[in-house]
Amino acid sequence: MSTKKNVNIGIIGGGLMGRELASALARWFVFVDPPVEARLVAVADLSEQAREWFRRVPTVTQITASAGELIANPEVDVVYAAVPHQLHQQIYLQVIEAGKDLLAEKPFGIDLSAAEQINAAISHTKRFVRCSSEFPFMPGAQKVIQFIQEKRYGKPLEIRVGFHHSSDLDPTKPINWKPRRRSWSWSTPTTPMAATGRRPH
Ligand SMILES: NC(=O)c1ccc[n+]([C@@H]2O[C@H](COP(=O)([O-])OP(=O)(O)OC[C@H]3O[C@@H](n4cnc5c(N)ncnc54)[C@H](O)[C@@H]3O)[C@@H](O)[C@H]2O)c1
Repeated sequence: MSTKKNVNIGIIGGGLMGRELASALARWFVFVDPPVEARLVAVADLSEQAREWFRRVPTVTQITASAGELIANPEVDVVYAAVPHQLHQQIYLQVIEAGKDLLAEKPFGIDLSAAEQINAAISHTKRFVRCSSEFPFMPGAQKVIQFIQEKRYGKPLEIRVGFHHSSDLDPTKPINWKPRRRSWSWSTPTTPMAATGRRPH
C-alpha cells in the first residue's frame, strides 16, 4: 500500500471536461513514482444526469448540486472548475478565497475585468493556480506563436481567426450551452455567442 500523501480533487462541472479529468485521474497509477497520490473525492454539478455518471468512481464520497458545498468540503485540496464561461470568475474567486488549489479552464475570465479580478485574487493566495488548454501546444498554434516571437510578419491589415472544434462538426450533436442563440449581455448568465457571432469552445 502506498504511503504517499493523498491529494484530494473535487470537480465542479461534471460535463465533458469534468469526465475527462476523472478519466485522467483513474490512470494515475501509470506514472512512475509520482510525488503524491491524486484521487477524485468530490463532484458538484447542477445536472442530476451529470452527477449520476460519477457514482461509478469508487473514491468519490461527495456528490452535490452545490459548488459552494464542494468548496466548503475540508477533504478537498484541489478544485478543477470546468463550468460554462460566464461562471468562471465567480467560481474561481470562491475557490481561491477558500484557500484551495485551483485547476481552472479557459477563458481565464470571460473579459478583461474578470481576468484582472481573478489575477488580483491569485496575488493574495499562496495556493497553486493553473489554467490549462491543449490548443497552444498544437503544431499549427506553435508555428503562429513562433512567427510572432520572431516578428516574422509585416504590418497586419486584418486578422481572421477561426477554430472548428471537431465535436461541433457533428450535425447530430444536441445543442448545449455553447452554441445557444439568444440575446445576451455581460450581466446575463448565458453565453456570449449571440453577441459576438463567435463560438466559444
Ligand atoms: N482545456 C481544453 O482543452 C478544453 C476543452 C473543452 C472545454 N474546455 C473548457 O471547459 C469548460 C467546460 O466545458 P465542457 O465542454 O466540459 O462543458 P459541458 O457543458 O460539457 O460541462 C459543463 C458542466 O457544468 C455544469 N454546470 C453548469 N453550471 C454549474 C454550476 N453553477 N455549478 C456546478 N455545475 C455547473 C453543467 O451542468 C455541465 O455538466 C469550459 O470553460 C470550456 O471552455 C476546455
